Amino acid sequence: MLQFLQNFFTEASFIPHGHCYLWQPSLVWLNIVSDSVIALVYYSIPAILIYFAHKRKDFPFKWILVLFGAFIISCGTTHIMDIWTLWHPTYWVSSFIKVITAIVSAYTAVALLPIIPQALALPSPSQLEAANFQLKLTLQELSSTQTQLIQTEKMSSLGQLVAGIAHEINNPINFIYGNTSLVDEYTENLLDVIALYQKNYPLPVAEIQALTEKIDLDFIQDDLPKILSSMKMGADRIRNIVLSLRNFSRLDEAEIKKVDIHEGIDSTLVILQNRLQGKGNYPEIHVIKEYGNLPKVECYPRQLNQVFLNILNNAIDALEESVVSQRSLGGSHATSFNGGNPHKQLVNSEGVSGKTTDNAQLTIDKLQICIRTEVVDSNQVMIRIADNGYGMTEAVKQKIFEPFFTTKPVGSGTGLGLAISYQIVSKHGGLLNCISAPLQGTEFLIQIPTQLKLS
Ligand SMILES: Nc1ncnc2c1ncn2[C@@H]1O[C@H](COP(=O)(O)OP(=O)(O)OP(=O)(O)O)[C@@H](O)[C@H]1O
Ligand SMILES: [Mg+2]
Repeated sequence: MLQFLQNFFTEASFIPHGHCYLWQPSLVWLNIVSDSVIALVYYSIPAILIYFAHKRKDFPFKWILVLFGAFIISCGTTHIMDIWTLWHPTYWVSSFIKVITAIVSAYTAVALLPIIPQALALPSPSQLEAANFQLKLTLQELSSTQTQLIQTEKMSSLGQLVAGIAHEINNPINFIYGNTSLVDEYTENLLDVIALYQKNYPLPVAEIQALTEKIDLDFIQDDLPKILSSMKMGADRIRNIVLSLRNFSRLDEAEIKKVDIHEGIDSTLVILQNRLQGKGNYPEIHVIKEYGNLPKVECYPRQLNQVFLNILNNAIDALEESVVSQRSLGGSHATSFNGGNPHKQLVNSEGVSGKTTDNAQLTIDKLQICIRTEVVDSNQVMIRIADNGYGMTEAVKQKIFEPFFTTKPVGSGTGLGLAISYQIVSKHGGLLNCISAPLQGTEFLIQIPTQLKLS
């Protein structure tokens, strides 16, 4: 054994490889440099493989990396041995290393064969990219469906509620309203009879005289017609509100219908009346209507009303927020709201009176929403809803139609209003755009075809 090892490592009886090069320095150096570079490169490759395996823990063929590493290291070592044997002819050792290299490389080559089909079955980067793209599309679709579902749910419960209330109130109010003119007529007749009695019997018996004084008949004769007229007005108002509620919910109508867009806007305004008339710390919001001569529009009326409701609600939110922020600034931005409105030409300042409040610094006296409608391109209608609130920055404007984007405090905004409005307008084959800048107000432009083009 000892003898074998001695023979194995012996240099005796062999000539160093350098002799074959006749020790010509340039040839020797050329071999040294080339072999060194090859060996260095070979040794660096396993380091790269280790790094790759470390980073891609999910790589399925790790064992092949180990084989590659071993094969490359042994290749590198054969080149080191080539340098060594220039001076030290330990050819047994170098041959042995070559044998190891041959075995490892042969094994690696054989081991590679069965994994080729598996490797081919792996998706290519372009296939992965395509799958990724498809996934993104599916995700977008899912998110948009989710948005629609949430809003539809929200609106359908609101619609049901509104329709339910309208239905319940409708009968009794029609009953009251229908009878007010009769009551009016009967009362007038009775009062005439009393007046006639008073004229023909100026001195009634003591009992009648006592009662006449007790009930203050003169006052009743004067006040009763006035009370009846205000009751009639009240009943008329309730009836109109009920009509608007029914119009807004439109639960009793087919989905697609030719409607008067102005009716939809007006009934939406009735729904929002409570917010518009100002309460507590908020001044009244003046609604300026500049309605054009629009043809009837074929659409999903309930859904379009939902768009008006979302946009008008946002405008009211923005105006209320402007009041709050102006108060916190001590009223210093008072003029910018109106002065800077890019659509102030839309806003008819005539008839929009200022509203003074308890707060001396509050000088916003023209909280305004301007609704303008017009026909464009003969077969399209445009509805513009502008407010002179605080407007929005470019960054916010870029995102307003994204589902769940909101700048409102948690709990007060879901960020779905405009996303769903955008979908509804697109579904009508129309366009929803927004013009806004900080402190310059906001205007939403809804353009829809008069004939429904289902997209
Ligand atoms: N008229 C407006 N003035 C200023 N900012 C507005 C106006 N309308 C919309 N925005 C901005 O667009 C955002 C998104 O509006 P969107 O209606 O989609 O959601 P939201 O009002 O926050 O919540 P909700 O789902 O309850 O409507 C708002 O949070 C607000 O920042
Ligand atoms: Mg909103």
